[in-house]
Amino acid sequence: MEKLWGGRFKKDINKEMEEFISSLSFDKKLLKHDLLGSIAHTQMLGKCKIITKVEEDKIVEGLKQILKEVQENKLEIASGEAEDIHSWVENKLKEKIGAIAGKLHIARSRNDQIALDERMYLKEEVLKIQDLIKNLQKSLMLTAQKNLGVIMPGYTHLQHAQPILFSHHLMAYFYMFERDKGRMQDLNKRVDVLPLGSAALAGTSFPIDREFVASQLGFSGISENSLDAVSDRDFILEFLSASAILMMHLSRLSEEIILWSSKEFNFIELDDSFCTGSSIMPQKKNPDAAELIRGKTGRVYGNLINLLTMMKALPLAYNHDMQEDKEPLFDTVSTLETSLFLMSKMIETMKINKEKMEKSTKGDFSTATELADYLVKKGLTFREAHKLVGGMVIYCLENKKNLEDLTLSELKSFHKNFNKKALEILKPQSAIDAKDSIGGTSLKRVKESIQKAKQILEEK
Ligand code: ARG
Repeated sequence: MEKLWGGRFKKDINKEMEEFISSLSFDKKLLKHDLLGSIAHTQMLGKCKIITKVEEDKIVEGLKQILKEVQENKLEIASGEAEDIHSWVENKLKEKIGAIAGKLHIARSRNDQIALDERMYLKEEVLKIQDLIKNLQKSLMLTAQKNLGVIMPGYTHLQHAQPILFSHHLMAYFYMFERDKGRMQDLNKRVDVLPLGSAALAGTSFPIDREFVASQLGFSGISENSLDAVSDRDFILEFLSASAILMMHLSRLSEEIILWSSKEFNFIELDDSFCTGSSIMPQKKNPDAAELIRGKTGRVYGNLINLLTMMKALPLAYNHDMQEDKEPLFDTVSTLETSLFLMSKMIETMKINKEKMEKSTKGDFSTATELADYLVKKGLTFREAHKLVGGMVIYCLENKKNLEDLTLSELKSFHKNFNKKALEILKPQSAIDAKDSIGGTSLKRVKESIQKAKQILEEK
């Protein structure tokens, strides 16, 4: 196999060494982008009279043929065929059009070429991921809408804290994913910059037209510094960081789905199509999709640390270490895409056990804060009220009573200012209705938040 750099060498490369440096087995994912980038580059070389029109047409025609064969699945890339995808394309082009293929690489290096391919790839995937996030948000919003009014315990420290609407809980995730989508949108601005034209590191002496290439390939900007453009991977790091945060959100939701579908909670039932059984225990139905999303979060965090560590001591400009950026990138993209897809399907198809959720707010003292607030409205300081209600909880526990079972005379024995209204506020529904501050869990506020979510989904 011919090397792009063979001329300076007297001896052949060692076989293990050759395998060791090859990236073809994974960078073949960038074939389409490499071809499209090369076509734009060739058209620019022709336009700037660096090559002749005849040469331009021949090279472009050859590249287009390869692209077509790839799209029709007529071309297989076997590992060992070339050092990397750039060499593979040039070899293939030479097979098709002969020695003139050698003009493709004028005013270009694999260093700016790989940076270009990665940016083109990531721009595409970020759009896909934004769409997948949007679908998940839609599933959450629709499930929240369908179950409006369902009451559940709200937790802190995984202890019953205050009753909330189930829809409010789901919408919390909607807004987390909205920020994840925003992070993707924002980082895409910095991905959307053309590095081609930086050549190896210093730019080129050929009269190239970078603006033309940028517009051919749909880039919004052009890199300002050739050394920077070929040697930084912060655009991938930003994506991996945003992905790590997104996976953290998916993992928390997974954890709740796993808890909720346990016998102890029994708040939801997952659809059979997103569960598996046990090879030994016939009764088992396991929430595997949620478990694996939670589990794969580790690999996405790992990918971020992998690349940060790889980059941390590299001198300018390009170093071969940077070839190691691709596997963590590709792995993160595929993990995110599958996780997002499965999560929205799981949410869409799960059954909500409304009765169990509501029942579990009974007798859990989760309306104690309402009583304290009530006394504050009657003139006590919050600390006095808090202490007094704490005493009432002890009284209930010692007498095996629920807070909501207390009679008016029992209430009055704790404080003279308690009246009939106090009995009313002890119901979970009243506690929820009372949380009418902006962003709170009252039905009115949750409806507003769903309304806003709909607008958000329609906007972009
Ligand atoms: N396969 C290389 C990479 O992914 C492409 C750039 C190679 N450049 C070089 N000077 N060896 O980073």
